[in-house]
Amino acid sequence: MLFDQGPKERKEDMYDYQEELGKLIEALRMDKLIVIKGLRRTGKTSLMRVGLKESGFPYLHIDPRFSENPNMGDFGRIMRDSLELFLRRHGGKLRELRRALSSVRGLKVSQSGVEIQLKWRGEEAVRFGELIKALEEVGEGQRTPVIIGIDEAQELRRVTWIDFRRVIAYSYDNHKWVKFLLTGSEVGVLYNFLRIEDPNSPLFGRARSEVSTRKLSVEESIDFLTRGALEAGIRPDLKKLREAAEELGGIIGWLSYFGSSLVRGESEVETILRSAVALTMEELKGFLRERRSNRYPALLKILSQPRGWAEAKRRLEDVEGGTLNDRTLLELLSNLVSVGLVEKMEGKYVIADPIVRRAVELL
Ligand SMILES: Nc1ncnc2c1ncn2[C@@H]1O[C@H](COP(=O)(O)OP(=O)(O)OP(=O)(O)O)[C@@H](O)[C@H]1O
Ligand SMILES: [Mg+2]
Repeated sequence: MLFDQGPKERKEDMYDYQEELGKLIEALRMDKLIVIKGLRRTGKTSLMRVGLKESGFPYLHIDPRFSENPNMGDFGRIMRDSLELFLRRHGGKLRELRRALSSVRGLKVSQSGVEIQLKWRGEEAVRFGELIKALEEVGEGQRTPVIIGIDEAQELRRVTWIDFRRVIAYSYDNHKWVKFLLTGSEVGVLYNFLRIEDPNSPLFGRARSEVSTRKLSVEESIDFLTRGALEAGIRPDLKKLREAAEELGGIIGWLSYFGSSLVRGESEVETILRSAVALTMEELKGFLRERRSNRYPALLKILSQPRGWAEAKRRLEDVEGGTLNDRTLLELLSNLVSVGLVEKMEGKYVIADPIVRRAVELL
């Protein structure tokens, strides 16, 4: 259903995005490094999950969203869960998979073939590189690409004890069957995580495919809401749908949130918008808590409207009553762009999401 909450798993539940899906599947066939980039809530995870499934290739899906400072155990558990799902999905058909995984140092597959034990510390710890090599062998044996899908890849920067850039670059250069599919905001994943433009990065200049998720137009938004409503068996007031479409900035996550609220019987546009604002406020506060700089709220307020560099700087200086150096401002802005809160368009910075804009006003 279009209005189901949470990332979509099935093509039938996805609105439009056929072109993006086609492009993604083609890229999974042809390329070794593929990136799905887009703003928050624009359907990156959904596109990744459906694309992985529709590609027909075996895939390992890693979602490294951690608590603030993950330790080896946290990362180990995420890997264990991903590998168990991987085995459940493909272990039946790909018999070598079990054997190949069992051969990785520090990794044990249970008798039943669906449970995994991992060692993440000490001499006998699993090396990510060895795991990838085992997957390469499986791919080669079966003559099939094996995809490692990493959602919100920039989160892996918190795993400070593994150099993923190096591991991915090594695999890119030396393996034929293992491929990487990463998602994140454009700046977060391409520039901060892979550092593709940094000559010192092992991934500098590597060819990659990029697929972007996008915002819907107002007309598409209305169409999405109308179809979702029909599918859920409700008859919405068209005027309300238009009003909502105009407020939600074409962000598919908010549109489907709006739709699911309608289905649950909430009929006031403003009430639904307010609860969306409350939701995003929690996330925003989490972000601010982590950064601990009280400059962010002020800067975010300034960026409720598009501002060029000089204007943003002058306004922040006015708020603080002092001068601000360019490097500090650059870092603040880059961080906001990197997490997808702020978008840079035609040389100006602005909060990308109208619901976040409203939340920022309340800070
Ligand atoms: N093509 C689509 N059709 C219908 N609903 C969608 C589509 N893509 C995403 N959604 C809905 O939008 C919401 C956000 O989707 P998803 O989690 O895939 O986005 P995301 O970009 O990964 O978000 P985040 O930035 O939070 O990681 C979900 O509730 C999902 O069901
Ligand atoms: Mg996501």
